[in-house]
Amino acid sequence: MKRWFKKYIRLLVRHTTAKDYSVLIYTIGAVIGIVLAFVLVGKLFSAITHIGKGNDEEITISTPADAISTTEDPKAIMADKCRSIYDKNKEYMMLVNRTHAVPSGYSFEHHTLNCGLDVDERCYEDLMAMLTALNNENMYYTIVTAYRSTETQQAIVDSKVASYVGQGMSEADAYNKALETAAPVGCSEHESGLALDIAPEGVYNLEVSIEEDDSNKWLNEHCYEYGFIPRYPKDKEAITGFSYEPWHFRYVGKEAAQFLKDNDLTLEEFYDYLEY
Ligand code: DAL
Ligand code: ZN
Repeated sequence: MKRWFKKYIRLLVRHTTAKDYSVLIYTIGAVIGIVLAFVLVGKLFSAITHIGKGNDEEITISTPADAISTTEDPKAIMADKCRSIYDKNKEYMMLVNRTHAVPSGYSFEHHTLNCGLDVDERCYEDLMAMLTALNNENMYYTIVTAYRSTETQQAIVDSKVASYVGQGMSEADAYNKALETAAPVGCSEHESGLALDIAPEGVYNLEVSIEEDDSNKWLNEHCYEYGFIPRYPKDKEAITGFSYEPWHFRYVGKEAAQFLKDNDLTLEEFYDYLEY
């Protein structure tokens, strides 16, 4: 035992036996003080630990695993929105591309434009509104292509093939080359009556440089307001399967056009969501 403790015990015994209780009272006070100090420190430590646990519990409660249901999957949410748009607008939303032909025997009510080309009657009014708005901006246009019959599409493909063969290509190579810019017969949107090629006034050659013309810029920016979409955008060639065509506009109805614009979707991407 330490010397100071032995000395202290002797002091305590001596004073207490002499009926002097002061050392005993100090001793009891000191013991109580030490015990209280331990209790306080313990409580403080437990309080700090509890605060930490409380935060953890809050985090756990705010993100319980079972709250993450499939309805919070962003793709599922978008798929639901696409289905809702499709349900309301499907009459204008037919998918036509290299792998989706216009259904055989498909027919629609034709409306012949002043230029002699036909469109589906259902897009006529919005088309006129769009072109009138363009004119009101002092810009003018040429409708180069609207509806094409299957026979016309066949003639376009044949003529491209003949031209490439004339340049020395084999029939097979010429056919593949022709299909880089023309849709296979039966698979052109123009056969649906819902697509038009619109060039600046007096321009009949459809070349990408058309994008530099103000009328084409205006159409690409405002076509959505009239139910049309730029169908073959520059950055989605791998998705649409066709090169960038700033002149090709496809009618899908106003609600669908705005939806596709807002969500930066091509028709192909929209249809992928329908199957999600
Ligand atoms: N040039 C477009 C893709 C068509 O032939 O319909
Ligand atoms: Zn076109």
